[in-house]
Amino acid sequence: MKVSDAIATRKTMRAFKPDPVSRETIEKIISLAARAPSGGNVQPWKVHALIGPARDELVRRVAEFRKQHPMGTPPEYHIYPPALTEPYKTRRFRVGEMMYATMNIPREDKAARIAFFSRNWEFFGAPAGLIFTIDRQMQQGQWADLGMFLQNIMLLAREHGLHTCPQEAWAMFHPQIREYLSVPENEMIFCGMAVGDADETAPVNTLESERAPLAEYLTVWETA
Ligand SMILES: Cc1cc2nc3c(=O)[nH]c(=O)nc-3n(C[C@H](O)[C@H](O)[C@H](O)COP(=O)(O)O)c2cc1C
Repeated sequence: MKVSDAIATRKTMRAFKPDPVSRETIEKIISLAARAPSGGNVQPWKVHALIGPARDELVRRVAEFRKQHPMGTPPEYHIYPPALTEPYKTRRFRVGEMMYATMNIPREDKAARIAFFSRNWEFFGAPAGLIFTIDRQMQQGQWADLGMFLQNIMLLAREHGLHTCPQEAWAMFHPQIREYLSVPENEMIFCGMAVGDADETAPVNTLESERAPLAEYLTVWETA
C-alpha cells in the first residue's frame, strides 16, 4: 500500500466487527510504528495493547464505574483548551453535528448522544484496544513525538486492512486504567485507540470529516 493510500483511506471509524486482531499483528504494527522520529530519539511513547479477555475486563471495569459516574473523572490534561476560540471551535462543533447526523440523532436527544458517545468505552466494538501513556516530565515536543507514533500505528493498520479510532475519551477514566494496567504515577494516560475491522455498513462510518482549504493553514514564501 502506498503511503498516500494509507493516509487517504484512514479515517476514524466508530463501529467495528468483533473479528479478533492477533497479538502478532499488533506487535508487527507497533514495532514498525516505533520507527517514528522523536526529538533527540527520546522515544517518549508507551502503549498497552489489550486483546481478548484483557480488553473485555477494562471495558467491564469502566462500565462498572460508570454506574455511579457516567462521565468518569476529569482528565489529567485539557483535552481541548478551556476556551477554544475560532476557527477551531466551529470545526469541533461541526464534526460532532455531522457525526450525529449520520445516525439521525438530533441535538435535543441528549440521551441518545451520550449513549453513542459511551461506545467509546467499549472501543466501539473493536477487538483490540490500545492505551497510550507518557511520562509527566515530557513537554510539548515529546507529545508531538507521541502523536507521530500514533499516526504511524493508524497508517500501518490500514496496510493490514484494519481501521482505527484514536480516543481521548479514555482519559476520562484514568484512575480505572491506572489501577488495572498498573500505570505508574509518573505516567499520564493520554488516550486510547480502537483497532479492528471496521463495520462498513454502520451509518456512523459513512462520516467524511472536512478539512479547511489549504490557504487557511499554508503560507508559502517564495520571493525574498
Ligand atoms: C488524539 C485524538 C483523540 C481522539 N479522541 C476521540 C474520541 O475520544 N472519540 C472519538 O469518537 N473520536 C476521537 N478522535 C477522532 C477525531 O474526532 C477525528 O480524528 C477527527 O474528527 C477527524 O476525522 P477523521 O479522523 O475521520 O479524519 C480523536 C482523534 C485524535 C487525533
